[in-house]
Amino acid sequence: MTTIVSIDGKLVPPEGATISVFDRGFLYGDSVYEVVRTYQGRPFELGAHLDRLAHSAARIGLRLPWSREQLTRAVNDILEASGHGAQERESYLRIVVTRGSGEIGLDPSLAVEPRTILIARVLEQPAVEAYREGVTVALVGGREGLRRHVDPSAKTGNYLPNVLAVAEARERHAYEAVMVDERDRLTEGSSSNVFLVQFGIVRTPPLAVGILEGVTRRTVIEVCREAKIPVEEARLTTADLHSADEAFLTSSIREIVPITRVEDQPVGTGKVGDVTRAVQAAFRGRTGPPFGEPRF
Ligand code: PDD
Repeated sequence: MTTIVSIDGKLVPPEGATISVFDRGFLYGDSVYEVVRTYQGRPFELGAHLDRLAHSAARIGLRLPWSREQLTRAVNDILEASGHGAQERESYLRIVVTRGSGEIGLDPSLAVEPRTILIARVLEQPAVEAYREGVTVALVGGREGLRRHVDPSAKTGNYLPNVLAVAEARERHAYEAVMVDERDRLTEGSSSNVFLVQFGIVRTPPLAVGILEGVTRRTVIEVCREAKIPVEEARLTTADLHSADEAFLTSSIREIVPITRVEDQPVGTGKVGDVTRAVQAAFRGRTGPPFGEPRF
């Protein structure tokens, strides 16, 4: 089985995995979610993802119907049922909690019962070339008003600003959008965090600029400290990206992907840099080797 779904604890095949059209996740994006991946079949940093799910839910006043223990059990159950680990394949796991359905209307008190959905499928990562050659990003601005409408530290179903940012990036033939605020500061990717390397120092925008605290971002900061790679949070502008020696983006699924171009301009030499490679190695030390062909 390559994809399996759990709806309120009931395992169903993807064809049978349906949710009401009256669900507020569908109608209003009134939901929270997490994306987790496995290494050697085990979920990576599940505790941190569950903490963030709880944070996101609290930020939108959504009561999580399941305890942390219940969620952990459900994650382990679906991974077991997927059979991916036994086949030496890694899983992509999405955890979604919606406020549920009820009378149509914006008032959250109309919602009757939150729904908990888990989706496990075989992990697909970016092509090996993305890691070998790096990717192109586009700087996308003008959406801060939209983006800030919901606390950016909460991972909610309201992803339209990010969806539109990635659409704009794709129109400009870029792999990912780096979102820029009205003060020309780098914030984050549409579904990733951004790091630069300047004079041997790894830098990433602070949470205060309004970003999601990526689990990978936090792990990268930790492993850099352990490996004595200088790392700091710093407010960064588009000029910093243009003049950086190296850059990379991070997310649970993509891990650490080198950025070697900003649209048609190279970052540094335009090749994957040594510091990025060192950060990848330090990160791999934390995750352990994945099943299959490692990306770095
Ligand atoms: N997104 N910033 C945003 C806006 C994100 O959506 C994500 C992840 C990240 C990186 O977070 P993490 O390291 O915890 O994966 C940063 C997930 C992968 C997604 O939406 O699919």
